[in-house]
This record gives sequence, C-alpha cells and structure tokens, in this order.
Amino acid sequence: MDYNFDSIIDRSIYPTEKWSKEKLNKYFGNKDLLSLWVADMDFKTSNLLIDDLVNRARHGIFGYEYKTDDHHNAIINWYKKRHNWSFKQHDLYYAPNILSAISILIDLLTDVGDHIIIQTPVYYPFSKNIKYHKRIPINNSLILVDGKYEIDFDDLEEKAKNSKAKLIILSNPHNPVGRVWKEYELKRIGEICLKYDIKIISDEIHGDIVYKNYKYTPIASISEDIANITMTCLSPGKTFNISGLSTAAVIISNKEIAKKFMRFENKYHINTNNSFSLVAFHSSYAKCGQWFDKFLVYLEDNLLFLKNYIKKNLPIITLIEPEGTYLIWIDLRKLKMKDKQLQKFIIDEVKVAFVFGHWFGNEGSGFIRVNIACPRKILEEALIRLKSAIDQHNVNL
Ligand SMILES: Cc1ncc(COP(=O)(O)O)c(C=O)c1O
Repeated sequence: MDYNFDSIIDRSIYPTEKWSKEKLNKYFGNKDLLSLWVADMDFKTSNLLIDDLVNRARHGIFGYEYKTDDHHNAIINWYKKRHNWSFKQHDLYYAPNILSAISILIDLLTDVGDHIIIQTPVYYPFSKNIKYHKRIPINNSLILVDGKYEIDFDDLEEKAKNSKAKLIILSNPHNPVGRVWKEYELKRIGEICLKYDIKIISDEIHGDIVYKNYKYTPIASISEDIANITMTCLSPGKTFNISGLSTAAVIISNKEIAKKFMRFENKYHINTNNSFSLVAFHSSYAKCGQWFDKFLVYLEDNLLFLKNYIKKNLPIITLIEPEGTYLIWIDLRKLKMKDKQLQKFIIDEVKVAFVFGHWFGNEGSGFIRVNIACPRKILEEALIRLKSAIDQHNVNL
C-alpha cells in the first residue's frame, strides 16, 4: 500500500520531543505552537517496516538477541548500492545512537582539556558533548560567500596547527546549513588532518537525504589513509524516520581504535540488541528503499513549494539553497532583530516552533532552521503565519 505523505497525523498523543505540549512549553514557553523544529519527520515510515515490527511484537517473546550476517549485510549493501562505498563487516560496529557513538569516541581519542574542532554553525549537541567531557570546542566557522557556505581552510589549517586539537567532528551533509561536502573539500580536510595528526569523526546521519544534482561522498571512501583516521557514524534514523528506535553504526577501519571502541562497549555493557531496533535496522535498509525514494520526491516538492512561497510572499527573507537534509537554513537578518527579540517575535507573533540560529553558535544569529519533512499543509500553515507576522511587524515599524 502506497503511503500518502499529505496525511496529517497527530503525534502529540505520544511523548514526542517535537509535538508534545510539555516539550514545546519547556523549550519555547508556549505549548500551542505549530512544530517545525526537531529533526524528525511527520511521516509514517514504510508499511513494510511497520509490518515487520508488528509481527515481531506479536511473537511476544523478547529475550536476548544478536545480530545476524543478514543484519550486517543490510547496511553494507545499502551503502554499496546507493553510495558506491564498500566497507567490510569487520569494520562495522554499533551504538545505540549517533550521539552515544560520538561521546564514546571523544572519550577514547582525547583527554580532558584537549581541543576538538567543529564547523559552526553546527548541530549544537556537538559542542555540548565536547563540554560534557571537559574538552574544549574550537570553532572553524563556516563562511557565507554569495549565498553559499564554504569551509575556511586557512582557518582550519591554522587551528589544526596551533591548537591542542586531536579531533574534528564533521557533519556531512551539514546540519543546519545544508551543504553536502564535495569530494575535493573532504579530501582537503582529510589532508590537513593527516598532516597535523588529527582524527576525524564524520557524522553522516543525513547522508541519504540529498537533493537532485548533488552527491553525498562518505569521507572515508576517499582514500585508505583518510579512512584510517576516520570514524564514520551512520544511522537509518533520519532516512526512514526511526530515530525513536535507537540504531546507529560506526565504521572504524583503524584496528587499534576499533579495539578500544569494542572494549569500551563491553566494559559498560552497551546494549545494541534491542529486539525492535534489530528489526527496524535490518528491515529499513533491506526493504524500504522504495519508500525512501518516494519521500525524497515529496521532499523536493516541499522545497520547491517553500522557495516559491518565499519568492512570491516573503522577499525580506533569504533561503540558503540546501544541497541535502530536510532542514532548511533561512536568513532573517533583514528583519534587523537581535536574537532575543527574534526569538520572542517567532514564538509570540509567528507561533511556530523553529530552531533559532543562535542555538548553533554565534554564526547562526539572525537565522532560523525550518524542518520541511512534514505534510505540505503544515508547511503552508507555518509560512502563512510567518508572512502574516512579518507583514504586521512592517506595518508597526
Ligand atoms: C547531525 C546530527 N547528528 C546526530 C543526530 C542525532 O542522532 P541520534 O539520535 O542517532 O543520536 C542528529 C539529529 O538531529 C543530527 O542532525
């Protein structure tokens, strides 16, 4: 049965981070907002996956389980077929989610007080995670050139050379600015890291979600030398909208690091064999490619709808053309509001929960991140609210 991406489903009946009134109230001080913030989709995942989960539940026995070769092969085949990247089963490790994998790797590869480079504005749990471990985030800020974010390689080299950096955490594709890093950009990052003995954690959770005319390149696929210093974090969470099922993988081809990773997981008995996670992980990669392709078509249409709406109705705002992710980075700096004022305006006047740019670092000031993985009617309603609040604001000026 085909899924209708236009269906509006009430998610607030479950304790969802995105839609529950409790969480909206906690983060925005208003429980009655339309929600386009947390990075998950408002779409049901594939029926094939739902059926497999229901059948697993009906079996009724949820004792200890393990990962079969079929399980490992599902992800190996997905990456080979979709992204022409081959990795071996012995380089494949698992974690409950991407953030726990990143956290373990920070712990293993750095010491208290070490520096870790991030490319701000970036997914804010990176810097939070770094600080939880008493390491110091070093910002290699992205630069906005003619409407497109670029890596400041001179600054990166300077920081690689002169800081106590042992690690860089990449977001590829980049959340929130939507860049899908090109092979030559990743190669240059890899060369700098090799030169200054810096390891790379590449968070590639958004890797499948790439718009027409762009191509995702896993950094570890570029060369053996780069693969040897890279830990690539992968997950079906964003691709199939199953983040609540806790599934992630880490590709580690450096044997020493892999051994440390396994030892850490064994020491703390980190369980990656939840019965439902196992089903979701395998079934999504093995069976749900068609659902995902349909999602991508709907997403492209949502992006087009958003761009047309802005062009026609909201000339004061600028959309940063995304290459990947369903998170759209929007420039509201022409409204000339300070962060607090913009936040208040969005919450009180627009009445939509977006992620505020400054949450991603100072470089995000004046921007919002809009999650367009939702039925078009919800996106349209959010845009109508934005237009009406901006029109009213302009009248009052
Ligand atoms: C770049 C990035 N990494 C990691 C995550 C979270 O992944 P997980 O839920 O597997 O920890 C997100 C979620 O928004 C993300 O955007």
